[in-house]
Amino acid sequence: MDVPAGKRALLKVIVLGDSGVGKTSLMNQYVYNKFIGQYKATIGADFVTKELQIDNKQVTLQIWDTAGQERFQSLGAAFYRGAECCVLVYDVNVLKSFETLNTWREEFLKQADPAAPDEFPFVLLGNKIDIDGGNSRVVSEKQAKDWCASRGNIPYFETSAKEGYNVGEAFLCVARTALTNE
Ligand code: GTP
Ligand code: MG
Repeated sequence: MDVPAGKRALLKVIVLGDSGVGKTSLMNQYVYNKFIGQYKATIGADFVTKELQIDNKQVTLQIWDTAGQERFQSLGAAFYRGAECCVLVYDVNVLKSFETLNTWREEFLKQADPAAPDEFPFVLLGNKIDIDGGNSRVVSEKQAKDWCASRGNIPYFETSAKEGYNVGEAFLCVARTALTNE
């Protein structure tokens, strides 16, 4: 739907993935250009906002951070409804975080219950590619891309929240994707 000139579009985005993959770090890097090496688990859910302009449209991206430890127990279905895009994050160095992506995706669809689940826009981020110069990664770019291809061509980005690598690019894609689903 077209956004009238002068009116901001509010785009709700939810970030999901296993505990410790770097969801909070990616958001902090994107919004505040900050990286904190110490791990502090997210409790519950909280959002940050980022104002940006896409093709002459003023957009407010409302990015919801969630707790990887809590799964879907504490956040009700109402929390997920109305999301325009869901960002899935895994750690390229931790196989389990890649294997659980299906569960995160399916649980999201179950809770958010969008009209056309097969067409709901996800974006996948493979984070922590800086570790060991990539020598300790256990999931290849091809594996990740194959996973995305078999689920309706989900856009895929390899990122480093620590170095800020590809973070802006990834969230720009998220914003564009969310805008088309508004
Ligand atoms: P939960 O809140 O428990 O769901 O975890 P999370 O996904 O928010 O992970 P968080 O952002 O807290 O990061 C976990 C740990 O990994 C922290 O110690 C971060 O500093 C570190 N980390 C996050 N992203 C990167 C990255 O790109 N590279 C490196 N080397 N470390 C990272
Ligand atoms: Mg967190």
